[in-house]
Amino acid sequence: MKLAVIGAQWGDEGKGKIVDFLAEEADIVLRYSGGANAGHTVVTHDQTFKLHLIPSGLITPAKQAVLGIAMVIDLENLFEELDNLEQSGISWKGRVFISDRAHLVLPRYKEMDRSRDAERRIPIGTTGRGIGVAYALKAHREGIRVADLFDPDVSKRLKREEKSFLDPYRERIRDMVVDVSRFVYEHRDRNILFEGAQGALLDLDLGTYPFVSSGISCAAGAAIGGGIGPHRIDRVIGVFKAYSTRVGNGPFPSEFVEQRDGALGDTIRETGREYGVTTGRPRRCGYLDLVALRYACRSNSIDGLCMTKMDVYDGMDEIKVCTAYSIDGRETRDFPAQINSLNRAQPVLKSFPGWKESVKDCRSYADLPSEARDYIAFSEEVLQAPVEIVSVGPDRSETILRRNPWTRS
Ligand code: GDP
Ligand code: IMO
Ligand code: MG
Repeated sequence: MKLAVIGAQWGDEGKGKIVDFLAEEADIVLRYSGGANAGHTVVTHDQTFKLHLIPSGLITPAKQAVLGIAMVIDLENLFEELDNLEQSGISWKGRVFISDRAHLVLPRYKEMDRSRDAERRIPIGTTGRGIGVAYALKAHREGIRVADLFDPDVSKRLKREEKSFLDPYRERIRDMVVDVSRFVYEHRDRNILFEGAQGALLDLDLGTYPFVSSGISCAAGAAIGGGIGPHRIDRVIGVFKAYSTRVGNGPFPSEFVEQRDGALGDTIRETGREYGVTTGRPRRCGYLDLVALRYACRSNSIDGLCMTKMDVYDGMDEIKVCTAYSIDGRETRDFPAQINSLNRAQPVLKSFPGWKESVKDCRSYADLPSEARDYIAFSEEVLQAPVEIVSVGPDRSETILRRNPWTRS
């Protein structure tokens, strides 16, 4: 079976945790898009892993990990990450495979990324990892791919500093390079988990353009990055937080504002430890936005959902969700394409009673306080998709499985 896990908001939904949790039943975990702009956290008992390029499934012994076709890979970052994993006791040799069609990120791309963003009238607030430059050069048909490392004609055309950066990696990756389409075909009877990076609203086509990343973080990207057709993806799981966050600039209609929400923004940022894994930047926080999330569910054909960070809302008197936008006095449940409309959108908020007890020790849906279950049920009704997993803490064990996403509907 082929299962795709995507972020359904603006990234950092807890995909790393959920992919690690679901990897138990997978044979292969394939990261399909993005690059070292991603920061995925996996917490297992006593260890915390922060992954940028490596699929989160690698933490589980014996799983194979593939860096897919639509990724942009910085080889320096990749080997730093692999060395760190080795030091943490994760032996990876023979388990990591890299697409021959993935593009490479060169050191100068990072400098270009930072200076271009600084020149923008309103900077996007990129991660400075050279991601946008790598995807732009790919679209310009000027990118360098993994396969090119083994093509003397392409090597000859590289600038001297590019050659001296890339040359040492050629032999290190030789045995890891695969034709992903063939690899996936050969493992067609296995369980393959496609790991998305970023989120639906950061997707170049579906997201809040131009305040997006440049990769293909939507569910369709799993097919492209995995070298298969879209009908071969059996199920799509969307991960979302019980509230919303985003890093960097761009519209965020349900963002907490001091005048209306008091110190809620700071409280959630501190309780939820909402600081970027890649850049350390504080994340902007806001109410759960069901308008944006419904759009993400529809545009990605999400079959099942996973709500994370429910514990962060423990102890609240009331919890609000955004059910519609008011734009220039008109109410809408559609997610506008125009950035200016999104910037003017005021959230229409519905209030729910909070729960007083901690959900952190709940391990079954029935254990959850009734107020928490009502919150989930309301989201399911609006989103027209079942919440199959509820996450109540960062650790792998702090997870409620209501329905196994690995079973076909
Ligand atoms: P990703 O990019 O989607 O993988 O998410 P990040 O790792 O960037 O950010 C999610 C953060 O929330 C990480 O620090 C996780 O350890 C943490 N996390 C994940 N699920 C939960 C949860 O249910 N509760 C709490 N408190 N933290 C969580
Ligand atoms: P994960 O996989 C959150 C954001 C950046 C910036 C915009 C463009 O951990 O969920 P880029 O460097 O990609 O050109 O930056 O996208 N961004 C993320 N935000 N989580 C991520 O990944 C992100 N990857 C990129 O903050 O606003
Ligand atoms: Mg992240």
